[in-house]
Amino acid sequence: MDLALTGKKALVTGGASGIGLACARALEAEGATVAVLDRAPGAQFVTDVTDARSLAAAVDSAVEWLGGLDVVVGCAGISGPVGDLLVDTPASDIAAVLAVNVLGQLLLAKHVYPHMGADGSIVLLGSDSAFVSVPGMVPYSASKGAVVSMTRALAVEFAPVRVNCVCPSVVDTPMARADLGDQAIEEAEFPVQSAGEVAWQVLYLASERSRAVNGQAVVADFGYSVRSGFPA
Ligand SMILES: NC(=O)c1ccc[n+]([C@@H]2O[C@H](COP(=O)([O-])OP(=O)(O)OC[C@H]3O[C@@H](n4cnc5c(N)ncnc54)[C@H](O)[C@@H]3O)[C@@H](O)[C@H]2O)c1
Repeated sequence: MDLALTGKKALVTGGASGIGLACARALEAEGATVAVLDRAPGAQFVTDVTDARSLAAAVDSAVEWLGGLDVVVGCAGISGPVGDLLVDTPASDIAAVLAVNVLGQLLLAKHVYPHMGADGSIVLLGSDSAFVSVPGMVPYSASKGAVVSMTRALAVEFAPVRVNCVCPSVVDTPMARADLGDQAIEEAEFPVQSAGEVAWQVLYLASERSRAVNGQAVVADFGYSVRSGFPA
């Protein structure tokens, strides 16, 4: 399928690592020009998505460098203290997860929207953790639930600019390896997808080929979240 992304101008947050990096590379491979925003030193546009002033300046600089803005991919995110029960989690750690995953995505949407035309597309990274959880993931799950809700609300407020989110299960990235360990990823008894596979999901939503898809959370979890508890 020709995704018709050639010549599009795209901005990717969290583009220095993992899913964001894969999205940036995939967009470039499809002929888009990509500006990468990340807090990592050495990123093309260094910014912290939780710092409104810094993010606004980085977005303005990126849009000027791109010469416009058609596609935005919000990948910047943190997992927080995965594995720690809520009763043992300091308020500062909870606030940090919500700051990056919720405030950061809202500020991104706020600052990119004025630059986007009617066929613009914003794709946010949610997670299957918005819908399913295991003990030790309450702040992260709450933050990703907020991404799903903001996606729906933004799609209403920003129309005709489209806003969708992708909600993958475990993806082999530095984040997942730091949280779960290399062995858990490499010898997993559950399906693990690659960052490149998530990038294809993102690119479809970024593309005009999905122009009727708006305000949706695409759950990419191999069907786990739709399975009945009935032991059939
Ligand atoms: N890896 C998984 O299993 C998985 C599954 C579902 C969803 N996700 C989501 O996908 C997104 C990307 O995760 P990943 O696995 O590629 O992680 P990653 O750690 O490999 O990459 C995240 C990137 O975001 C950047 N970043 C973090 N906080 C930032 C901030 N405040 N400002 C600017 N940049 C910041 C980091 O520097 C890094 O480059 C996240 O939103 C994550 O929650 C990941």
